[in-house]
Amino acid sequence: MPKWLKDAVFYEIYPQSFMDSNGDGIGDFEGIIGKLDYIRGLGANAIWMNPCYDSPFRDAGYDVRDYKKTAARYGSNDDLVRLFDEIHKRDMHILLDLVPGHTSEEHVWFQQSSRAEHNEYSDRYIWTDNWFQSPEGLKSVAGESERNGVYVLNFFKCQPALNYGFLHPEQPWQKGMDDPACIATKEAMKDVMRFWLEKGCDGFRVDMADSLVKNDDEKKTGTCMIWKEIREMLDKSYPEAALVSEWNRPTLAIPAGFHMDFCLDWGGNCYNVLMRDVKNGKNNSFFRKDSTRSVLDFFDEYLESYEKIKEIGHYCLITGNHDTVRASYFLDVQELKLAYAFLFTMPGNPFLYYGDEIGMRYQSRLLTKEGGYTRTGSRTPMQWDDTKNHGFSDAEPEQLYLPVDITEDAPTVQSQERNPDSLLNTVKDILKIRNEKEDLKDNTNLALLYAKAGERAFAYRRGSLLMLCNPSGQETALRADCFTDVPDMSKAEKLYEIGGAGYADGSFLLGAQTFVIWEMQAAK
Ligand code: GLC
Ligand code: CA
Repeated sequence: MPKWLKDAVFYEIYPQSFMDSNGDGIGDFEGIIGKLDYIRGLGANAIWMNPCYDSPFRDAGYDVRDYKKTAARYGSNDDLVRLFDEIHKRDMHILLDLVPGHTSEEHVWFQQSSRAEHNEYSDRYIWTDNWFQSPEGLKSVAGESERNGVYVLNFFKCQPALNYGFLHPEQPWQKGMDDPACIATKEAMKDVMRFWLEKGCDGFRVDMADSLVKNDDEKKTGTCMIWKEIREMLDKSYPEAALVSEWNRPTLAIPAGFHMDFCLDWGGNCYNVLMRDVKNGKNNSFFRKDSTRSVLDFFDEYLESYEKIKEIGHYCLITGNHDTVRASYFLDVQELKLAYAFLFTMPGNPFLYYGDEIGMRYQSRLLTKEGGYTRTGSRTPMQWDDTKNHGFSDAEPEQLYLPVDITEDAPTVQSQERNPDSLLNTVKDILKIRNEKEDLKDNTNLALLYAKAGERAFAYRRGSLLMLCNPSGQETALRADCFTDVPDMSKAEKLYEIGGAGYADGSFLLGAQTFVIWEMQAAK
C-alpha cells in the first residue's frame, strides 16, 4: 500500500470545467496549477483528474485516441509534467484516469484493426469473423469497416472494446486470455501506465475496471488475474503508485490488486440511500430532514464489504462524480453539511467532486455535451467569484465549454469564503479534523455503536473519536447504555458540532439536524 494513501483526501477535477487560463473557454493544466493552493487549502492533498489525453471527445475524453499524448486544449505533455511537479512541491499527489477497456474508434490501433488485410493490430479488438454474425450478449457494431466482421463495444459506439480475451473461448473468433494478441493488449496497457508513472504521475483511477475479459464469470476471475499481474508490476517497480477502481465491488477489486475501490451510485446500491434516493418522484435520501430511512439501509451493505477488505484496501465514499447528478439536487445546504461530515469521518479515502464543496447546482436543462447526456448538468464551469463567468474564463459566454450558472444566488468560492457558516467552510473544518486526528486515518477502526431500523439518529466510533448524527427535524435523545459498546464520557471533549448536542446523565441529547464529534481521551 503506498504510504501516502493513509491520509489522502482526493479532489476530483473535470479538466474541461475547472479553470481556463488562456481565455479559450475551456479549462487547462495551467488553470489547475493556479488553483492548487485553493485545493490544498480545502484540506485535500490528492487529485484525480478525468482523462486529459488526445481524443475526439465523443465521451468527454473516455474515448482515447492517443494514450501518450495530452489533448492540446489542456496543454502539452510538458505542461502536464509541470502540473505533476507543482503538485509534488505542495506535498500532494495526482491520479490520472486510465481507460484500459476501450479506445476511441479513431485510435490508430483500431484503424489498423479495421483493415481487411491482417496486421499487428487485427486482434487488438474483438471481431467476429463474418459481417453477418453479431456476438451474443455483447454490444457490437456492424457495417462500419472494410474488414469482414462485427466488432465489440464497451460503452458508446465510438468506444470499441480492447481484446484481453475470453475466459472460456467458445467460438473460433474468441481468443483465450493467453493468446499472444491478448497478451499484447495487456502489455500495451502496462506500457501506457509506465509511460505516465515515469513522467511523475502517482497512479490511476481505472475506468470500468471490471470490463477487461469478456464472458468472465461471476467472480471476474479473468479480469482479476490481469489486475493482479499489473499490481505485481507496480509493487516491484512503482511501490508508491496507487490504483483506484471504478468497480463498486471491493471484495473483488481489492483482492485483485486495487488499493481502493469506490462505493458508487450504481443501481439500487447502498450509496444511493445516503444522498440520491429518489423513487416515484419522492426523495427519501437518508440525509433528508424528512426521510423515513434508517442508516442501516446504508450500513448493512457497506459493512459487509468493509469488514472483508479493511485490512488490505480502502472502500471510498464520494460526494459525487462526473457521472452522477450533483448531491445538491437532492439535499439542501444543511443536509449536505451533515452528509459531508459523515463521508469525511468514515474510513477509506474521501473523494470530493469539484464544486461540491460550495454546493454547485446540477444544471438540468443543458443540451448534452461530449456524450454527457444527463451527466452534462454536473460538468459546468467551477464558480470562483463574482467576476465575468464566475472567474472561470475570460472568454465570451457563448465560447465557454458549458454555460456557467448565472442564477442570482449561484454559490461561489469567494462569497462562501467570507461566511464562516458556509458549506465551503464546513468542508474545511471537517477536513481539518480528519487531517489532524490519527484515528480518522486508521482504516480498520470503524465501529457502529448505535443504529436501529425505524430510527434516524445513529452513532459510530473511530478509535477515541465518537460521532453522532441526527439528520431528522426533531430533537432526540440516545441513551449511552444502549450502544453496542458504551462510550466512556468521563473525560470526553466536544471537538466539533453542526447543530447542537449535549451529554448528561448517560444520555446524548441531539438537536434537529445535528452532527457532533467527541474525543474520549480515556478510551483505549
Ligand atoms: C466510466 C466513466 C464514464 C465513461 C464510461 C466509459 O463509467 O466514469 O464517464 O463514460 O466509463 O468510458
Ligand atoms: Ca483554456
